[in-house]
Amino acid sequence: MLILGIESSCDDAAAAVIETSAAGIAEIRSSTVANQDDIHRAYGGIVPELASRNHVVTIGPVVERALMAAGCRLAEVEGIAVTRGPGLVGSLLVGLMFAKGLAQASGVAMVGVNHIEGHLLAPLLENRIAMPYLALVVSGGHTALFAVEDFGRYRRIGRTRDDAAGEAFDKVAKLMGLGYPGGRAIDEMSRRGNRKSVRIPRAHVKGAPMDFSFSGVKTAVATLLATESGRAERPEDLAASFQEAVVEMLVKPTIAAARELGADTIALTGGVAANSRLRDKLAEAAAADGRRLVAPALKYCTDNAAMIALAGGYRLIRGERDALSIDAEANLSL
Ligand code: KG4
Ligand code: ZN
Repeated sequence: MLILGIESSCDDAAAAVIETSAAGIAEIRSSTVANQDDIHRAYGGIVPELASRNHVVTIGPVVERALMAAGCRLAEVEGIAVTRGPGLVGSLLVGLMFAKGLAQASGVAMVGVNHIEGHLLAPLLENRIAMPYLALVVSGGHTALFAVEDFGRYRRIGRTRDDAAGEAFDKVAKLMGLGYPGGRAIDEMSRRGNRKSVRIPRAHVKGAPMDFSFSGVKTAVATLLATESGRAERPEDLAASFQEAVVEMLVKPTIAAARELGADTIALTGGVAANSRLRDKLAEAAAADGRRLVAPALKYCTDNAAMIALAGGYRLIRGERDALSIDAEANLSL
């Protein structure tokens, strides 16, 4: 079955074509993204109004590019999967309305997909993974641990109590004058820094070993940079020490959750999964615990439409479809 995926929940407009014959098994025919970093950089964060206005301009061409790269015509598409939440409501609406228009015009079945479900299943795009597996979703908007028990059956077993890890990376990068989004800049700078030179206290959520908290490390860096001695630290050392704290605070609850679940596989997904230190440390900790880490290629870690097509695909194969009256939901839960 040829499925067109459409994603526009935040600041990326994405489209993909996959061919799937069974739940979770797909061949990616194309995956395209129109990134808006250049637009939001000047503001040091995503401006929702600008994001949705730009989606209006790019969504058509992005879908066209995905179809062209897949070598297929719209008439050959047999199902449409589109993100309906959670996310910025204005952004969501653009992709959803576009998908509805295509479905209405072609008569093809359409399903609305939860964006988080897309991230949870993204590791299946390139790997066979037996369920249940543990997924760490770590991005600019989310940081949570989910047991992926079956298609459509997900159990959250840990979450951040305050900031998302990516948010902490971006805020610290901003404090350090590294621009937006700053996760990658901190990652790259950290390679030249000493991870042990600046003391950053680690935070634990009392009585909840599988939960996260990142507002403290962000404040620690802000407090440090407010002092003369803090400003005298080499930025490389500060970046590396901060990153090490975040990575440790992600790895520990993840291993605890994998043990509790008895999961052989830990899947890492979301934009922060691009972090080189997190990949190394989590792979090391998983191996030491007799488990394997699966991390998708970077383009499938960050927001993309192939994961949305896969998450809608197993329902479309079953013959399911959503009514064209479904709404975008900013706070859609899983
Ligand atoms: O999944 P994503 O593309 O968008 C959502 O937030 O949904 O994730 C973007 C986040 C940003 O916070 C960005 O700074 C972070 O992922 N990020 C990184 C790295 N690359 C991207 N954080 C740490 N290290 C990286 N190499
Ligand atoms: Zn995302």
